Formats: sequence, structure tokens, C-alpha cells
Amino acid sequence: MKIDFVAADSALAKTSAVAVLAFDKGPLAGGAADLNKATGGALARAIAGGRFNGAVGQSLDLVAPSGIDAARALVVGAGPRDKLDEKTIELVAAHAFQAVKMSGADTLVLRIPGIAPGLAAHAGLGVRLASYRFDKYRTREKADKKPSVARVDIAVDDPKAAAKAFKALGGLADAVIFARDLVSEPANVLYPEEYARRVRKLEKLGLEVEILGEKEMKKLGMGALLGVGQGSVRESQLAVIQWKGAKDPDEAPVAFVGKGVCFDSGGISIKGAEGMEEMITDMGGSAAVAGVMSALAARKAKVNAVGILGIVENMPDGAAQRPGDVVTTMSGQTVEVINTDAEGRLVLADAVWYCQKRFKPKFIVDLATLTGAIIVSLGKDLAGLFSNNDVLADNLLAASKATDEPLWRMPLPPQYDKLLDSGVADMKNTGTRHGGSITAALFIQRFVNGVPWAHLDIAPTAWKPGSTVPTIPSGATGFGVRLLDRLVADFYEG
Ligand code: BES
Ligand code: ZN
Ligand code: MN
Repeated sequence: MKIDFVAADSALAKTSAVAVLAFDKGPLAGGAADLNKATGGALARAIAGGRFNGAVGQSLDLVAPSGIDAARALVVGAGPRDKLDEKTIELVAAHAFQAVKMSGADTLVLRIPGIAPGLAAHAGLGVRLASYRFDKYRTREKADKKPSVARVDIAVDDPKAAAKAFKALGGLADAVIFARDLVSEPANVLYPEEYARRVRKLEKLGLEVEILGEKEMKKLGMGALLGVGQGSVRESQLAVIQWKGAKDPDEAPVAFVGKGVCFDSGGISIKGAEGMEEMITDMGGSAAVAGVMSALAARKAKVNAVGILGIVENMPDGAAQRPGDVVTTMSGQTVEVINTDAEGRLVLADAVWYCQKRFKPKFIVDLATLTGAIIVSLGKDLAGLFSNNDVLADNLLAASKATDEPLWRMPLPPQYDKLLDSGVADMKNTGTRHGGSITAALFIQRFVNGVPWAHLDIAPTAWKPGSTVPTIPSGATGFGVRLLDRLVADFYEG
């Protein structure tokens, strides 16, 4: 999507849609007052005779109003004037885009005079996130089924200042979109080595990227991660991404570890057919890690950060891992594999251990589409947060609130830990049927060696087919990228 900042009074083309803001209970002001005047009061009449009251999420459409050149005009609710913040204007701008994208107009002119450049830039970010569409495999789509709006002009008092502020947000939008593309990509295209190649491309942002293959991981003793990948014809990979932005290059980094299961068939404990195709998204945690690393590099964050992606494919095959197998993890602890579909925790066990051992980080946040049970617990809008450290947990909750990527803290009850005890090995990879997301988190915790740690089970939020948030089109959300970027910005930089 092409987004430009233009002068507030620039002329409208006949093929455009113009959108203005109206505030909750306020008199028509700014762009809305101008539009009302130009249309001979049509806007005020439409509002008076309808239910529109300026709340966020509302809009009102005037088709071919006389007095202006645009094909249609849209008034978008922006809530109370004094509450208009970055988050709100992103949503409002995204809503405007969603409301007109299929209308036939080729350009949306979002007219927001009187709005500060910083806020206008966030309107641009909202539009960029809203206009994401993974359509590279739709080769026969008719033009009238595609979005018509190909360009968005944001008309403001100081276009130069707004464009400058928008530039700083562009890296964040790119990072979210990078993560969304990875999650959307099917597993025949995005297999571990291809994933690693795409991660390598982040080097152009100044990130250091290393890729470990099976040989290197074998040497390190990563028997749990390798066991998951051993039934796949694709080679497992571990991607290690580093950003060194702190003044002291030796300062301990913050660390993010992601589950990157390119496809989760369940393995020998095979999943049912229904909905199995969704398991192309089982690398969403690692995509968020790659995304946040790219966001940090793009804005040259003053922090040292490490991102580790455990990338495998979980397949049934003659060489596949069996239920009953015992694997030895890099930590030396052994695991009896009860269910090969509980594979994410096996991948994370080795990736988390490697991260601690090599980098001695300030903290580790791992992200994973780990359990169906967390969806049962929390529904589709909230990701589960598990942590051994209240400061880290509170910082994550604050960053979550600031970015509208919702987390809900879950417990790590010590008395459930024994549910993972095994008769033959140090532990088994599943607990009982109940509390499945908790025992999964407790399993990972057995590989945490004294560092502050948080685990985000993003199975609910990584993939939202029926998303109703205007900045998140249906499908891959990029959940976690903005949250973690904000976590670093607000608490760990400087
Ligand atoms: N990748 C799945 C979890 C998942 C389910 C993610 C639905 C997104 C949507 C994970 O590997 C898995 O299969 N978990 C099992 C664990 C069980 C075997 C203990 C589950 O949740 O059923
Ligand atoms: Zn999985
Ligand atoms: Mn699984």
C-alpha cells in the first residue's frame, strides 16, 4: 500500500473516497466541519437522521455527495477528542480503510487537519497494518473481488513532519508484515531451510544471523529438538539472530526464543484431518521472534538482543520418533516422549537451554503456539503468560496493554510439576488431560536455569481467521512483534 502525507487542502480526485473524523458528542470540527460546509450541510443532516455518534468503530457513508469531487465521503468515529491517542487513531484510520477498500475508489484521502504529526503517523501505521493481504497464490482473482484502494493519502497540516514520524514506524510495520508472511506461507514453501534463508535476509538491517543445521545441533546434544524433526525429509534448523545496539557490546542481552514448527502433523501421534491445515501456522512464535529482532534493528534500539528460532517439521515417517522413545536434551535431562504431538516443548527445551548457556541473558521470553488447551482456557483473544518473575510479567502486561496485544497471566503451580514425572526418564513430555497449557509451561520451566523467564502461549492469537480488529486482517496476525518491541523500548533500553 502506498501511503503519502499531503497538504490538508489538496484537491480530491473523482475516483477517490475522502474520510474525516468525528468525535464523540463533539461538534463537527476540522476535516468534518470542512466537509459539512462543502456539501451544504449534508453531513450534519445525515448524522442528525442516523445512529452515528462518533464512537470508535462507527462510520457513516455519504455516496457521491454534491459539492465535492470525491466518489464518496466517510465520517469515522474517533471517540472523545481528549482521548485520541496513538492506539485509537491507528484503529480509526484502519477502520476508514476497511470501510472503503472494496468500494471501487482507487484512493482513500484521510483528511485530518488539526491532528499532530506524531498521531498522523500512527494513522499511517494503522492503514499499513490494515491493508495487509496474503494474496500471492490467488492467480485468477477477478478485479472486482480485490480491494480497489491502492493508495492512501493522509492530508495533514504539516505533511513533512508527519512523513518523518511515519518513517520511524515503517520498520515496525515491516516487522509485523514479515512475521505475518512467514505464518501465512504454506509448509511446502516454508520448510526449515527456506525459513532459515528468509531469516538470513534480515542481515541487511545490521542483524547477525547464524544458522545451525542438524550436524551442529547433534554436536551440541539437542536430542529433543532433533527428535521432533527426525521424521521429516527436511533438515531441522536453529536460527540465532543477534542485535548489538547497547553502548557496551558485552552487556547481557535480552532474549527471545520461538517455536518454529513449519508443519505440525502431530507425528506418529497424528492429528485428526479436520483443521490440520492450520498447522502451517505452528511457527508463529518464532515468526514473532524474527519480527521483533527486525523491528529492533530497524529503529536501532539501544539494547543487546538475541532471537533464537527452533525450526523443525513434525512428520510421521519410518524414521519418525515414536511414543515411548526417550531422548536426551542438551541440558542432560532425559525425556520420555509420551505423545509426539507435544513437540513444541521439546523444541523449546533445547532452544531455551542453548540460549541461556551461550548468552547468559537478562531474561528469556519464549513464544509458542504451544497448546490447544490455552484456547480452551482463554478463548481466541488472549494469549497466556506464564512467568517465574513478577517484574518481567508486569512489564509484559504493561507492554501488552500499550500495544493492544492482550495477555492474561496464568499460574505455574509447583504441585502440578510432578505430573511430568516419568517412570523411565527424568520427565515425560505430557501431563494429564487437565491443565494442559500449565503442564506444558511447567515442562519448559524445567529447562530454565535461574534466569527470569516468561512463556507466551500464543496458540489463540497467532492466527485469527475471523479477526474483527481493523488493523488485523483475517489470518496471520503477527502477534507478539509489537508487544515485545514495546517491552524493550519501555523497560530495557538506554
Ligand atoms: N501446535 C499444537 C498446539 C495448537 C493447537 C496450536 C491448536 C494452535 C492451534 C501443539 O503442538 C499440540 O499439538 N499440542 C497438543 C498437546 C497435547 C498432545 C499434550 C494439544 O494441544 O492438543
Ligand atoms: Zn505444535
Ligand atoms: Mn503438536
